[in-house]
Amino acid sequence: MIWSKKYSPKSVSEVVGQKKSVEQFTLWYQNWKPGKKAALLTGSPGVGKTCLSEALASEKNLEVIELNASDYRTASQIKEVIGQSMKQHSIFKKGKIFLIDEVDGISGNKDRGGSKEIVKIIEESKFPIVMTANDQWNKKLSGLKTHCQLINFGKVNFWGVLRRLEEICQKENIKCSKDLLKQLAKMSDGDLRSAINDLETLSSGRSEILLDDLQVLGSRERDENIFDSLKMIFKTKSIQAARMSIQNTGKDPDEIFWWIEQNIANEYEKPDEIAKAYDMMSKADIFRGRISKRQYWKLLKYMIDLMTGGVALSKKEMYRKFSRFEYPDRIKYFGMTKMKRANEKEQLLELSQKLHCSTKKIRQEYLPFLDLLNKN
Ligand SMILES: Nc1ncnc2c1ncn2[C@@H]1O[C@H](COP(=O)(O)OP(=O)(O)O)[C@@H](O)[C@H]1O
Ligand SMILES: [Mg+2]
Repeated sequence: MIWSKKYSPKSVSEVVGQKKSVEQFTLWYQNWKPGKKAALLTGSPGVGKTCLSEALASEKNLEVIELNASDYRTASQIKEVIGQSMKQHSIFKKGKIFLIDEVDGISGNKDRGGSKEIVKIIEESKFPIVMTANDQWNKKLSGLKTHCQLINFGKVNFWGVLRRLEEICQKENIKCSKDLLKQLAKMSDGDLRSAINDLETLSSGRSEILLDDLQVLGSRERDENIFDSLKMIFKTKSIQAARMSIQNTGKDPDEIFWWIEQNIANEYEKPDEIAKAYDMMSKADIFRGRISKRQYWKLLKYMIDLMTGGVALSKKEMYRKFSRFEYPDRIKYFGMTKMKRANEKEQLLELSQKLHCSTKKIRQEYLPFLDLLNKN
């Protein structure tokens, strides 16, 4: 289990440095009755929004029905999952709580019923609903906000991060200086998850960490850019590190897929390693296809593991060199043909209404003949 999970607070009192938010949240829970507002926890990543909800649930012996962004993409999918368990009481636990994680990630252009559906769920639920989001000012949340009690989380302060890192070192039996931990705490910029991740990366397979080891991490910035992620994937031999590298890029996995695909041969030199890496990509691509065809987002984790960890482990040794990474041709091409494709799509839609069949069918079965007719 990765450390940030392993050392997730087991009780509310273990949550570090969020005194005010913790108070507000506990109070909200105590006063909650059906028909009351949901809680909307906002704040930057890694500050304890999700883990506070989970800690409260375990403390109060509640069953958590959790939905993360990878489980759902649309409000109607949420409704499906929640709808069923909304009416039944829990069999083994004292109560239930719904956690809709990263609700700002829900798709839909600023409301195809998106937040309206959720509002309905909030109004009808027999159990309290907690939502989390990064940015309280996100436009997507505006419809929801009036039905929620807003609880904002600040960054975890330096000393809080430091204390947590010290505890973990102690429990994991890792020797390292206070200076190093201070450095890690400073670099984390209040993101405790990333601080714990860094500590885990540094100590993988060792019982002592030295200040010099910090170089491994490079100068990580909060918004890791895509080049840093690529560097991580291509240089590391740890699946965990490769997988985590894409978390903070702010790009979606599909786009990152093309970045990796483009740059394998820029980094790897041995033919068998290149072949292996592309083999991993082809397998990731199978999942990519299934996800987009069937909207089966549960498969996303396999796609990500293969394209990050799979590619990372395709090399025997790290290449000690600097590679210049290229912008993916594929994305360039999509960018250039965007207008053309949009036009085509519009025309296909028009035809599909007239002909009463799918755009796919028209493209594959009718268009070639229409083309022929045109030519003659
Ligand atoms: N305030 C906190 N107190 C204790 N641990 C924390 C705190 N914030 C983050 N963590 C650690 O980082 C991990 C990720 O935190 P999480 O609650 O998922 O962050 P987010 O705010 O992005 O939901 C947790 O599992 C826990 O180990
Ligand atoms: Mg979270």
